[in-house]
Parts: sequence; structure tokens; C-alpha cells
Amino acid sequence: MKKINIAIIGFGTVGSGLHALIEKNSAVITKRSGIEIAIKTICDIRVEHVKKHTTGIGITGDWEEVARDPDIDIVVELIGGIEPAKSIIRTALQSGKGVVTANKKLLAEEGADIFKLSGSGAARLGFEASVGGGIPCILALRHGLVGNRIKSIMGILNGTTNYILTKMQEGGIPFPAALADAQAKGFAEADASFDIEGYDAGHKIALLSMIAFNKTVSYSDVTIEGISNINTRDISYARDMGYVIKLLGIAKETDGGIDIRVHPTMIPEGHPLASVRHEYNSVMIDGDMTDPVILTGKGAGARPAASALISDIVQLSSGGFGSASAVVTDGRARHVRPGKRISRYYIRMQTDDRPGILAQIAGVLAQHDISISSVIQKEIHPEYVPLIFMTHEAEESGMLGALRDIKKFDFIHGEVMMIRVEDSLHAGGEE
Ligand code: HSE
Repeated sequence: MKKINIAIIGFGTVGSGLHALIEKNSAVITKRSGIEIAIKTICDIRVEHVKKHTTGIGITGDWEEVARDPDIDIVVELIGGIEPAKSIIRTALQSGKGVVTANKKLLAEEGADIFKLSGSGAARLGFEASVGGGIPCILALRHGLVGNRIKSIMGILNGTTNYILTKMQEGGIPFPAALADAQAKGFAEADASFDIEGYDAGHKIALLSMIAFNKTVSYSDVTIEGISNINTRDISYARDMGYVIKLLGIAKETDGGIDIRVHPTMIPEGHPLASVRHEYNSVMIDGDMTDPVILTGKGAGARPAASALISDIVQLSSGGFGSASAVVTDGRARHVRPGKRISRYYIRMQTDDRPGILAQIAGVLAQHDISISSVIQKEIHPEYVPLIFMTHEAEESGMLGALRDIKKFDFIHGEVMMIRVEDSLHAGGEE
């Protein structure tokens, strides 16, 4: 049996979850892995708070002491944000320690230096808990699917927004109440706009893309749209057409480069991701040998995150990731030009109800080379009528041009909503 001393830096929701997991399951972990995990130190500025909730563990507020302590084998960084998390991770790796972190923002935005430092000797990095909560999707990409070229990844990567969309879809619960509920359950980021505006999912798809495609991906190159303008009307029109709206992270290799984005997406109700509810995440990885592999589980919350942290601690302790760096890349990703992306689109607008309007809108779509797949006019509105179009596949530049022109008509009232549609299991087309 091998004994591993760890330090937990940051004793918040996830840090205390990891402590609780080790208290509860250490015997079974040792039985399966031959590794005994001992928490030697917990570092948190709230020393008294940690004292109240733990026994027999060293407690300090000084991260530098911990990151350099020769008796610590693995530092678990759980304070989040850029600094001092970055310094903690760098110091620990430079001191020859393993590092396990859930810090997707840091790794996605400023990970390049850290990835370079990891991979020599014991200085290795695990970040399973940064993507998909308890789902072992990084382990799957790095190990289980190592024999595949990855064609695409499509996933529900944020539990808070999936929880909100589920509540809006199934219970007609308004957005603010659903968000407050998700926050109370501990799913949301400290700043919930990271969830709502899609930044959190953007960090996660950037990280998955680097592992899948072995290219350096800048988070700033990921196109990101959140769910703040999704309303129950569009959810209900989508349902009438047999679709569900999900916030998806999508990454795929195309002839024009890698296409990486996060946005609300309409998927058919029979699609495997459509039935993923509440705080559950699901990652669909399309390998050239396996075809789509789908991993689903709780993507947020202390217990699933703690499970992912333990997976990394055991992997690092047993040489499970080999000698390779956490992310092996051979250059920067070439990104597809956003206007060149191909998709089908749902568009919804409110118009006056008089002859010729439909024809004028159809004319604009035709000018931009967009073919209409279906049109619905609802009779229900007392003043303006909702007009809903589904298009065939078209380039995004054409769609955006058409939207600009449609908005100029004086018979259009209020916003014009556009939601991208993905029908296939293989992101971006081909059955
Ligand atoms: N706030 C994240 C989510 C959980 O809602 O999915 C941690 O990544």
C-alpha cells in the first residue's frame, strides 16, 4: 500500500466535499487502488472555520508553506480564480508535486504555462473536476478513447443553466426563481453570470478541445452566447415542433479549421442530450473508431466534484497519466471563421398581420441564400402575430445578414430571436 499526503487549498463547498468523501470512502479507495490518501494540511484563510469542521489535520492560512512542504505529495487547489491560484499551482509543480484542480477558468484562460510545467516526474496535473463534475470525461478522452481521432464533442457542460432550462421547460418556472434554486443547491459559480452567460461552459469546451484535438485553444476564440435571452415562449414553440432547447458546448474539426462554440441550441426531443435534465451534464464524444460515446452524470455540486478530484489523485499517485503533460499540443488551433459555420436556424419574430409580410420576409431569406424548411404563424397574439421559421442548413454569415435586414422592416415589433438547430448525433451534420 502506498500512502499519499495531500493538502487541500480552499475549504469551500468542493474542498469540504473532498474532505467528507475521504472520511467516508477512504477504505474502499485503498482497497481498489492500493493507495491510502491522507489529508495532511488544509489551507484556508478562515482557519477557525476549518478547525470547527475537521480533526487531526494541520490547518494554515499560508499557501506558500503548503505548496513547498516536502511532506506533501499532491496539492489540491480549490480556491478558483486566477491569482493566487496560478502561483499556487506553479509553485507546487515547480516543487515537484502533483497538482489536482477544478479551476477551469485559470486553465482555459492562462493554462499554457501550467501545462508546460506539468509532465515531468511527479509534477503532474489533473483537472478532471474542472469539466463535467463527476463525469470522467477527461479520463475517457485521455485513456479510454486514446485510439480514436476525435471528430467532435457536443455536450451539456453547465449544470446551473441545464437546471434552469429544465425548470422553465417542465414547470414554467421563471428564470430568476430557477436560478435562485440552483444557487441554493450549490451548483452555480460565485458569480452566476459565468453560468448564465455561457463563460463556464466556454472554459470547459476549450479544455476538452485541447485534449481532443491536441491544439492550443484560446478561450477568447470560443464563440459564446448564454441563455439570458431564452424565454418560455421559445421553449414552448420549440416543443411544439418536437425540439428541446439546451445550452451546448460544441467543438468539431472541419475542413476550415476547428469550430468551437457555446450557445443555446435546439435539438430534437429524441436526441440523447435532450433527455439530460436538471444539473446533469452530458458529454458526447464522437471518435472515428467508436462513433458517439455519451457520458452523463451530475455536472455540479460538491460530491460529484469530489469524486472527480479523487480520480485524479489516484491517477497521479499510481502513474496513471504516464509521463505526458496534462495537455499535449503541437501548435495553436486554426479556428473556422464564424460566418462560415453551417447550421439550421429557428427564427421567431412578432409582426403585424397583413398581406405580403410573409412574402417580404421569405424574400429576404432567399436573397441571403437561406432556404425555409417550415413556417408557422400563431393566431394567438392579440396585437402582433408570432411568425416562426425553421430553415435548412445555411452559412451563419447569411443568417446574420438576413436578420439585420428583417429587423429593418417597420412591421417587425420587438426582438428577432435566432436559435441554432443541431439535428445530428455528429455535431454539424452527417448521420
Ligand atoms: N457552476 C458549474 C455548473 C459547476 O453549474 O455546472 C462547476 O463547474
